[in-house]
Amino acid sequence: MHSVARAVVAFLLAAVVFAAVPPAVAQQAKPEDLLKLRQGLMQGLRSQWAPIAGFAAGKAELPADAAERAANLAMLAKLAPIGWGKGTEDLPEANTKPEAFGAKSAQFLESWKTLAAETAKLADAAKAGPDALKAQAGAVGKLCKGCHDEMRKE
Ligand code: HEC
Repeated sequence: MHSVARAVVAFLLAAVVFAAVPPAVAQQAKPEDLLKLRQGLMQGLRSQWAPIAGFAAGKAELPADAAERAANLAMLAKLAPIGWGKGTEDLPEANTKPEAFGAKSAQFLESWKTLAAETAKLADAAKAGPDALKAQAGAVGKLCKGCHDEMRKE
């Protein structure tokens, strides 16, 4: 397996473990490990999203596995908040603005729910056909960009 893919799988397994244990135990996860998980989950999003985005932009063929990729995106969006857990607010290698943990934390979490819902719709759109996929990919791309513009550091 490609090393990036292996890393993503390892992060996902870690995410499942974190999700399954009570919050008090999960909070003992080292912030540095949570940051790796966070960035691994985001790399996972990118890997699943890129071919669909390329198709929507007219730069690539329709990916044959678009529906599966969209379903993976929905799963990653559901897991994503785990990576922004306690203690990860001001790590030097993190690229998240403080608002995501503070004044805008509710909005931040809501945005992940929206992404999960819209990527689930993307899976349906992929099954419906190329035009439907393209239209819904536009909606998903706006969610990635919107959150990056607002919550990600330059
Ligand atoms: C709700 C907010 C939000 C949404 C939605 C979102 N992102 Fe992000 N993304 C972030 C933040 C914040 C960071 C910076 C993470 C950090 O602290 O290092 C980030 C970082 C990334 C990174 C860099 C990861 C690394 O290795 O450092 C990639 C790639 C990425 N996002 C892809 C995507 C894609 C693709 C989508 C849409 C399918 C998406 N993101 C949707 C908030 C979001």
